[in-house]
Amino acid sequence: MNILTIETTCDETAAAVVTDRLKVLASVVASQDALHGRFGGVVPEIASRAHVERILPVIDETLRKANLQLADLDAVAVANTPGLAGSLLVGLSAAKALCVACDLPLLEVNHLQAHIYACRLASGRDVFPCVGLIVSGGHSNLYRCESPTDFTPLGGTIDDAAGEAFDKVASLLGLPYPGGPSIERAAETGNPKAHRFPRPLLDDRQRLDFSFSGLKTAVRYLVVGPGKLGEGKRDVGGTSLGVGSAPLSVADVAASFQEAVVDCLVAKTELALESTGFRTLCVGGGVAANRRLRERMEDSAQQLGYELHVPPLSLCTDNAVMGAIAVERFRAGKFADLTLDVSPGVERTSQH
Ligand code: KG4
Ligand code: ZN
Repeated sequence: MNILTIETTCDETAAAVVTDRLKVLASVVASQDALHGRFGGVVPEIASRAHVERILPVIDETLRKANLQLADLDAVAVANTPGLAGSLLVGLSAAKALCVACDLPLLEVNHLQAHIYACRLASGRDVFPCVGLIVSGGHSNLYRCESPTDFTPLGGTIDDAAGEAFDKVASLLGLPYPGGPSIERAAETGNPKAHRFPRPLLDDRQRLDFSFSGLKTAVRYLVVGPGKLGEGKRDVGGTSLGVGSAPLSVADVAASFQEAVVDCLVAKTELALESTGFRTLCVGGGVAANRRLRERMEDSAQQLGYELHVPPLSLCTDNAVMGAIAVERFRAGKFADLTLDVSPGVERTSQH
């Protein structure tokens, strides 16, 4: 069975063909980074318009790479939640149109669950039950994942997501979008102990939640001072911030910020493993590409003796291959119908 998977939740237009035995026949990702870069973040209207232009060429290219015709497909799967409304609608409309035109069944994909399923694909074997940590541009959530079709929220961010904090702090430091990779690069030569930024909620062992907006503000206060709009920010491309008498090293700020985010992610994830009793952790989403986070998670797994799965970089950031989670629904006969709608926004798990 060949399943075409479509992903347009945010700013990547992606398609893949996977088989019901989880073999990847082709994958194409058209990134929009170049379109959003000058705005320092994703502009939803630009994203949806770009998806409209790219979706058909991306699907064509995917089928060509897989050496398949439309007639060779057995189902179409599409991520319909969560994400940007306009972006989601482009993927869903394309998927429905293909289903009608080619008389194919439709399968829905939850984009966050798909990020966790990337670990299943990468490891080549069952990873459930596990704790799932999703760290992306819009989400920092922990889940109890009993099976690929049974996810229960354990906690999550109460304000900014980890990736969002990376992107905003990068912009504050004059580093290019997307901020995560820029901060990671800048941090390589920095001292993570140079600045002691807050680790919000770290000591609250009753909650599996994160909060990153105060951390972002702490960086802002250090860089531009409280109540200021950003005058005195360093020039883009420099290595130090010309504020006050002693210039700040961008590398030190980036490394100290990254360390604070990673400390929070590791500590709450360890708590989630402890509270569920699960011995497997799957990490997904764009921030899982961060080398410092990967390193620290590996140390933690070694120390506490749990099994860690983090996908290769290409499966961390948005792609359609992870839409292979639809195979689980396909096998269970759980098809969607043409009334399937998008469910935009962010999936907040915190009860607080
Ligand atoms: O999962 P993803 O590609 O898209 C969403 O579903 O949001 O995640 C994108 C996020 C962005 O905020 C980006 O800055 C962050 O992932 N990111 C990283 C790294 N690579 C991407 N954050 C930290 N370190 C990285 N190496
Ligand atoms: Zn994502």
